[in-house]
Amino acid sequence: MTGNEASGRFAGTVALVTGGASGIGAAVSRQLAAEGARSVHVVDLAREAAESVAAEIGGTAHGVDVSDPQAVAELFERVLASDGGVDVVVHAAGIDDPVAKGHIFEAADSGKPVDVLSRLDDDRWRRIHAVNLDGTFHILREAVRAMRPAGGGSIVTVGSSAGFDTLVGYPHYASSKAAVHALSQSVAKEVVHFGIRVNTVAPGPVDTAMAARTPESVRKAMNSGSAFGYATPEQLSDSILYLASDQASNVVGAVLLSNGGRFTV
Ligand SMILES: NC(=O)c1ccc[n+]([C@@H]2O[C@H](COP(=O)([O-])OP(=O)(O)OC[C@H]3O[C@@H](n4cnc5c(N)ncnc54)[C@H](O)[C@@H]3O)[C@@H](O)[C@H]2O)c1
Repeated sequence: MTGNEASGRFAGTVALVTGGASGIGAAVSRQLAAEGARSVHVVDLAREAAESVAAEIGGTAHGVDVSDPQAVAELFERVLASDGGVDVVVHAAGIDDPVAKGHIFEAADSGKPVDVLSRLDDDRWRRIHAVNLDGTFHILREAVRAMRPAGGGSIVTVGSSAGFDTLVGYPHYASSKAAVHALSQSVAKEVVHFGIRVNTVAPGPVDTAMAARTPESVRKAMNSGSAFGYATPEQLSDSILYLASDQASNVVGAVLLSNGGRFTV
């Protein structure tokens, strides 16, 4: 055991991080390990990338699609079988829509208004909601089922500033994330009575693989009015793990904007 493991905020805990292979989720996985978690489960659709983060921190990788309820139930069965429980769950898996981003890019290039909605097909609408919203429901449900017998735990979901300050041409992403906020808050009020705290972080722009797909014109617009520019995944990890930790013992159902002061709510 290292010094960190003995004294960190997450000393001796079992943690599970979805979207743990990249960006914000990878930063959270690394920080949990550095702050003493005894077991970190790195969950991602991208199995190989999850294996590489898990290998780096001595964790366990799981290739799981969070939009699949059965796969999520089996994931938690595996975690309970190996570790006997789970104390901290961070749900960072989520997707954007590169096609809509392409349309936004075209509009900036041509000087014409953004035209996304009329070209938004059912499959892309459904997939965004299947991953961002249904995935959050699946993870919340299984995390609560797993934590209740032990008498408690802490869950942090990841929403988005886009759920408040909607981006032109991103209706499906904005609606999925606003729903993540409301879902998490409703569940938070219910399960606090079982000793489980649920909170949400709503990031502004963060420098990750997702942000790398954002057209330059949109990146510039997102940076206007910001003192800091894009946040790092580590800054988001700090916000998320504050909520996950005992330091936030009186914080329940919060949607913490971590957006460098771009706007307030
Ligand atoms: N980057 C930003 O600017 C930003 C802003 C606001 C909110 N967010 C949110 O933060 C979260 C993390 O995003 P990020 O920026 O780190 O992006 P990212 O693309 O770097 O990481 C997202 C991870 O989620 C995984 N994933 C996608 N679909 C999945 C599925 N169905 N099942 C399991 N894993 C899946 C991806 O493989 C990837 O590893 C997302 O929920 C995103 O919506 C990001």
